[in-house]
Amino acid sequence: MDQQNTLSKSDPILLTGCAGFIGHHTAAHLIAQGHRVVGLDNCNNYYDPKIKHKNLELLRGMKGDFSCEIGDIRDTALVSRMFKTHKPATVIHLAAMAGVRASIDDPTLYTDVNVTGTMNILNQAVLHDAQHVVFASTSAVYGNTTTIPFTEDDIGIMPVSPYGASKLATEHLGSCWNYVHGINTTALRFFTVYGPRGRPDMMMLHLLNSILTGNEVPYHNGGEMYRDWTYIADIVDGIVRAAARPDGFQVYNLGRGEPVRLGDVVEMLRALTDRSPNLRPIPMPKVDIFKTHADISRARTHLGYAPSVSVTEGLEAIVEWFCREHPEIKTKAS
Ligand SMILES: NC(=O)c1ccc[n+]([C@@H]2O[C@H](COP(=O)([O-])OP(=O)(O)OC[C@H]3O[C@@H](n4cnc5c(N)ncnc54)[C@H](O)[C@@H]3O)[C@@H](O)[C@H]2O)c1
Repeated sequence: MDQQNTLSKSDPILLTGCAGFIGHHTAAHLIAQGHRVVGLDNCNNYYDPKIKHKNLELLRGMKGDFSCEIGDIRDTALVSRMFKTHKPATVIHLAAMAGVRASIDDPTLYTDVNVTGTMNILNQAVLHDAQHVVFASTSAVYGNTTTIPFTEDDIGIMPVSPYGASKLATEHLGSCWNYVHGINTTALRFFTVYGPRGRPDMMMLHLLNSILTGNEVPYHNGGEMYRDWTYIADIVDGIVRAAARPDGFQVYNLGRGEPVRLGDVVEMLRALTDRSPNLRPIPMPKVDIFKTHADISRARTHLGYAPSVSVTEGLEAIVEWFCREHPEIKTKAS
């Protein structure tokens, strides 16, 4: 049932969150493939907006068809104007407030951006006859489920963070908009995505920055927790495959399916750089999940999704990028 990429190159793709980590990698891939990409991002200061503007510069520097509005997904007039002007058939909606722990401090913002913002995108997509909205969900929707590996068939899931709850709500909206309006909606549950130009608030970048600066990094449960680390190129491949397959309402896990212990990731980073991050062991935050583990058989079967970058290869790639950015650190190989 493997599906080829049948995304039309004549219609532009509306890509929200295009200045962010996953968004700009997705945009770069689509532009390189000859797609027209219209981006929307408010470049907020959840982390340093300079990083986002740099990502946009990178996209603007590519040969291809890319434009971006700096604005908010909750701005109905703006979103409506963008649909009216560009007439996208496909929307890839990645804009969100994305921090699990940060969502405890500002649940109102997380609900507003993630739920109301997604509803605005869905509404405008329907009003302007778009065919398909693909949107980012997360492994955080699984909360502390005891069904492992995590499967999309587990319908009793209970998120344990406001972030996870907001994302599960967007899935329900996607299902509802498909039922009521007939628009195709696809929710993609990403599992701990990492890679070059990654999000600085995530563990992987915290560890690398600590290797660089010596600053303390909180070390959850002394490294005794597991993540289904998934390399950015595999995630982008999954997003594009899903976008090419409108099929009513669908939910897919996009992970690797092989959880790796945080402590082992730290050891691999040590081996690659010959340096140690400055670790401060702390208990597991209440909103964190001990182990994430994706069952990816549905994405494999329906989308032909087949993650190909092992954690070892992914870590080598991210360390190589980081050392290029910070020549004062060297990889062991250099
Ligand atoms: N990185 C991961 O491991 C991971 C895991 C699971 C799910 N996700 C989801 O994937 C998507 C992309 O995540 P990311 O890691 O690239 O995060 P990111 O923060 O780098 O990207 C999100 C982008 O959305 C933009 N944005 C936020 N609020 C907005 C608003 N109101 N209007 C317009 N733009 C807005 C931000 O400025 C940012 O550029 C998010 O929906 C996130 O929840 C990410």
